[in-house]
Amino acid sequence: FDNGALSGLNIHITAGPTREPLDPVRYISNHSSGKMGYALAEAAIDAGANVKLISGPVNLPAPAHVERVSITTAEDMLEASLEGISNCNIFIACAAVADYRPTSIAEHKIKKGNEEIMELHLVKNPDIVATIAARVDKPFTIGFAAETRDVLSYAQGKLERKNLDMIIANDVSQAGIGFNSDENAVTLVTRDTHIEIPQTSKRQLATLLIEQISQLYKTSK
Ligand code: PMT
Repeated sequence: FDNGALSGLNIHITAGPTREPLDPVRYISNHSSGKMGYALAEAAIDAGANVKLISGPVNLPAPAHVERVSITTAEDMLEASLEGISNCNIFIACAAVADYRPTSIAEHKIKKGNEEIMELHLVKNPDIVATIAARVDKPFTIGFAAETRDVLSYAQGKLERKNLDMIIANDVSQAGIGFNSDENAVTLVTRDTHIEIPQTSKRQLATLLIEQISQLYKTSK
């Protein structure tokens, strides 16, 4: 692999979960550990890129030479993703962004009442990767699709709907890959190719993905 394949290019990568607060002590989130996104950041650095890593709350150190921006909510992630976007060449959305957030954040801890059922009201969060891909100065934009069934057809749908250049389909129903594990297996989907990458470490997978991304980026120019 050509170590300078992404030399001089600016890459933004989102990673980890978002946290959507309900009150001062509670939030809605998911099981993303950030491992996949951080591995991509490392692989992109190795390929010579300038990397901004927009990260939700995770227990990982910032990879060497990466500019890490730590955020909490989807709205914060969008704002940080848009910062410097007109100079961004490649945008990779690996974060597991909460699709909805509580309509309001209680100022004080919500107290337990007598009722057995409690209803939460949620409102849709902005779609970060779709917002980026809708810009006139759109970077080469790559999303992930975390699915538990009909993985390829849902991934294809997201590729089209969000106007992405590539989507990485991730079957998160299988034990040992996907959320929080050290290994992963994916299918890289574009409008005209499907490339299966069998199970391997997230770090090794990241190198393979960055290699494919740099090739497709170059042919898109
Ligand atoms: O962090 P790890 O523990 O290593 O796990 C890795 C992973 C499973 C989180 C990762 O490989 C992965 O699949 N990430 C995408 C998770 C996801 O939420 O996918 P989705 O199918 O819901 O979203 C589709 C795409 O839209 C994703 O690129 C997502 O970042 C993006 N999105 C979704 C919602 C939203 N409001 N804004 C977005 O940008």
